[in-house]
Amino acid sequence: MNDLIKKDMLLYSDIIKDDHPDLRQKSLPANIPLSNEEINVLKLMNDYLWNSYDNEIVEKYKLRPGVGLAAPQIGILKKMFCILAYDEKGDFHNYCIINPKIISHSEEKTYLETGEGCLSVDKTVNGLVHRYRRIKASVYLYDFETQELISTVLKLEGYLAIIFQHEYDHLYGKLFYDRINKENPFFIPENSHPVIFSPQDE
Ligand code: NI
Repeated sequence: MNDLIKKDMLLYSDIIKDDHPDLRQKSLPANIPLSNEEINVLKLMNDYLWNSYDNEIVEKYKLRPGVGLAAPQIGILKKMFCILAYDEKGDFHNYCIINPKIISHSEEKTYLETGEGCLSVDKTVNGLVHRYRRIKASVYLYDFETQELISTVLKLEGYLAIIFQHEYDHLYGKLFYDRINKENPFFIPENSHPVIFSPQDE
């Protein structure tokens, strides 16, 4: 592990960018139970996502907000990532995921009409990323409140399934733009339908 884990908080500059070879590596499983260092890494990543929702902190530290962050993005090649996001119905989700494995998925696909972004990719890449609409994954979840690590099967769909698959890709050295159709970036397969976000009350 590197010196990062001695820090109190992650900054945008701590997130490595897509020219860094670590983002093309395959990550190794985390220890079960987690080591204290691994728990610290998860905490740093999860705090970064929470800070993303605090405008004052975002301004002060010039953070680029995100809804997911994977350990390889801070140069730690372990199968761990965090998600913090509102789904298309407006429900809030926070997961710290360890050693995930997608065990099944729908044939149907889904995509974001605006395309995807990544904290490790500074430039805008135009094109659509089609991912499985529903996934079932065996995972360990870490809960900071109870300090418990539980083994479970997570069923996700739509926006949350997209974020999960984006972060999961990071554990295998893949970036979202690898999945954009090169000849026709805006191609939509017959079995792919966009995520529709319901309007939120202000
Ligand atoms: Ni990413």
